[in-house]
Amino acid sequence: MTSNFSKGRKSSVLFILLSVGIIIGVAAITRYVTLRTFKPPGEPAPQLTQAASMYWQERFPLQVASYMRTLEMEATAYGGSVPYQKLTAYPFMRAMYHGFGFWFDFRESRGHLYAIEDTMITGRSKVGGVCLACKSADYPALVAQYGQVEFDTMFWSEAAAKTNHPVSCIDCHDPASPDFALRITRPWLEVAITAQGKTLADFEMRSLVCAQCHAEYYFEGPGTANTVTFPWTHGFTPEDALQHKDDENFSDWIHPRTGAGVHKIQHPEFEFFQGSVHAKLGLTCADCHMPTVSDEQGREYTQHWLVSPLRHIEASCQDCHGDPVALRARTEQLQGELRTTANEVGVALEQAINGLRDARRNPAAGVHHITAAQASHRRAQLLLDWFLVENSTGFHNVAEARRILGEARSAVAEMVAHTNRAIGR
Ligand code: HEC
Ligand code: HEC
Ligand code: HEC
Ligand code: HEC
Repeated sequence: MTSNFSKGRKSSVLFILLSVGIIIGVAAITRYVTLRTFKPPGEPAPQLTQAASMYWQERFPLQVASYMRTLEMEATAYGGSVPYQKLTAYPFMRAMYHGFGFWFDFRESRGHLYAIEDTMITGRSKVGGVCLACKSADYPALVAQYGQVEFDTMFWSEAAAKTNHPVSCIDCHDPASPDFALRITRPWLEVAITAQGKTLADFEMRSLVCAQCHAEYYFEGPGTANTVTFPWTHGFTPEDALQHKDDENFSDWIHPRTGAGVHKIQHPEFEFFQGSVHAKLGLTCADCHMPTVSDEQGREYTQHWLVSPLRHIEASCQDCHGDPVALRARTEQLQGELRTTANEVGVALEQAINGLRDARRNPAAGVHHITAAQASHRRAQLLLDWFLVENSTGFHNVAEARRILGEARSAVAEMVAHTNRAIGR
């Protein structure tokens, strides 16, 4: 009884706190959006350019209307478009990202039309114009105007003031082609594929257009060039990315508790999907995320509402899987199982990080074993982060998710073993 009561009271306090948080959040966003779009009376409305989704409305009304739906916000069991704070949901992340921007702020992603807004709102600091590379449809034109390095290293505030349009039609389509053909607008994709000894033709455009942004990257020449680079020279697995970064002697930051050089992984959707059950069937990103649908008049078109396919499971999955209710349950069961494993590994990693911190404070600790523990931290953190920030909660490649989490767990165990040896335990 008592425990039920206090549970109820706790959850109502939590509910009130959450509600207040949401109200403040919404008010801040609304104020921000108002400020950003406010034009003094009398000033003429800005001319729509090709980078605006609305520019294409007359010619492609169905595609534009469906793309506008990316403004909707709704959660799914493990994904969706409600930008909740992940650091609160998964507190071990604060230990993992200690000393790096994501320590302060790491929110769930939303639809494409929020891309610039969300970059402005985040509490993380920005290294320069390059941060707009995957957020704005103005980016390719700005690079053409100012130069690649010049724009990528431009002060963030100056660069941001020049962008008006979030991810949009011309990021994926050639506006000059008569059939609005798909095209690649971000040069680093081809650079990375070529470095692997492959060509763009080895992949489908219906996935490549997404790979421009939905892939793990880092900046070569941080501060001086800020060149977006995909760590793909050895392949697409997290181990391949670690090998690439080891070759380049690259770390995003030195972890203040353990002294290890570590990395922040970002959305490796394209890499993680390779070799999955669905990839082997020949499916592309667009097959599930952009199904062919019909309007009331029966006109078929590609739905451009880029969200969790679990919000349109009938259009995306039913042809192959039948019963949508059972399929959702199966999908969520797999995601739940993986989420639980990831949380266990995350809590273990937090303890290992704090264990290594304490060991480093011990003057008698063996340097050799500390160094080995740091190497294990570097590896464990990259592997676990790969799963955590891949946006499908493992769905895109369930077998690979299990493998990666298993490897991450082993790396944490090694880290603990080296730490214990360092302090003679
Ligand atoms: C077989 C169908 C399928 C394919 C193919 C597919 N996805 Fe997904 N994707 C999903 C499902 C299911 C989810 C999980 C959504 C959830 O948890 O609500 C998802 C989640 C996502 C999310 C996060 C959505 C959210 O709600 O937060 C992104 C981003 C994404 N996929 C991008 C891609 C990219 C890029 C590709 C190609 C490399 C791809 N997907 C291929 C089915 C697919
Ligand atoms: C993230 C990439 C992406 C964005 C952004 C995008 N599209 Fe597409 N679009 C696609 C893909 C993929 C297809 C399917 C093409 C194929 O299979 O050949 C497509 C198909 C189309 C087609 C061909 C007809 C059809 O429905 O299949 C038109 C027209 C089109 N898009 C218009 C637009 C417009 C207008 C916008 C902006 C509101 C837009 N697209 C934004 C990726 C994108
Ligand atoms: C030019 C960069 C760019 C391209 C190209 C791109 N995306 Fe995205 N995508 C983003 C960004 C940035 C976000 C996160 C926006 C935010 O959180 O504000 C995002 C978010 C998403 C989401 C999550 C939406 C949600 O509601 O949580 C899905 C799903 C998605 N993209 C699918 C795709 C697919 C599929 C393709 C290819 C057809 C694609 N994207 C191409 C940059 C891009
Ligand atoms: C082209 C046909 C096709 C499409 C489209 C497709 N699937 Fe699949 N899917 C398969 C096949 C075949 C398998 C492997 C056999 C099985 O487990 O049913 C599979 C496996 C799965 C599994 C089990 C994965 C595992 O590793 O155990 C889930 C869950 C799943 N699909 C969900 C989805 C969802 C959700 C969508 C839509 C967003 C989708 N599929 C779209 C054909 C498809």
